[in-house]
Amino acid sequence: GPEEDAIRAIIQEHIHLEGPLLPILHGLQKAYGVVPQAAVPLIADALNITKAELHGVMSFYHDFREVPAGRHVVKICRAEACQAVGGKALAEATLAKLGLEWHGTTANGAVTVEPVYCLGLCACGPAAMVDDKVVGRVDEARMAELLQEAGA
Ligand code: FES
Repeated sequence: GPEEDAIRAIIQEHIHLEGPLLPILHGLQKAYGVVPQAAVPLIADALNITKAELHGVMSFYHDFREVPAGRHVVKICRAEACQAVGGKALAEATLAKLGLEWHGTTANGAVTVEPVYCLGLCACGPAAMVDDKVVGRVDEARMAELLQEAGA
C-alpha cells in the first residue's frame, strides 16, 4: 500500500549507512510520530534481522514508540542530582496519581509520562519537561498544575 511505499522509501534513504537501523527508526518516527507496525517486517527484511531483534533494539532505546504519544509528553528527570532532591518521590507520586507506568498515556490521551536522564537543570531539581519546556524545582503541587494545564 501507499504507507508501505513511504516506509520503504525511508528505509532506502538510510540503508547505505553503516549501522542503518537507528537512522531508519529515527526517520520513521520523525515522519509518523511512531515506528508504524507495518514497518517492522519491512525493516527486519531489509536489514536481515529478526523482528525480535528489532523489538529488542526499540525497547533498549526508549526513544522509539510503537503506540502514539499523548498530546503532551511530561518527562521527569531520573538522573542522580534530581533523584537526590526528591525526584524519585515526585516521579512515583506522579505515576501513582495518574495510574500509569513509565511511558504510559492517560486514558484521555492528554499526557504521556516518560523518564529522562538529566535536563541540564541539576542545580534546581527535581527537573521536568513538558513538551519543549523545562521546569525546575518541581514539587508535587507544581506537577499537579502542569498536569492540569496539559489536560491530564
Ligand atoms: Fe536532573 Fe540534571 S540531574 S536535570
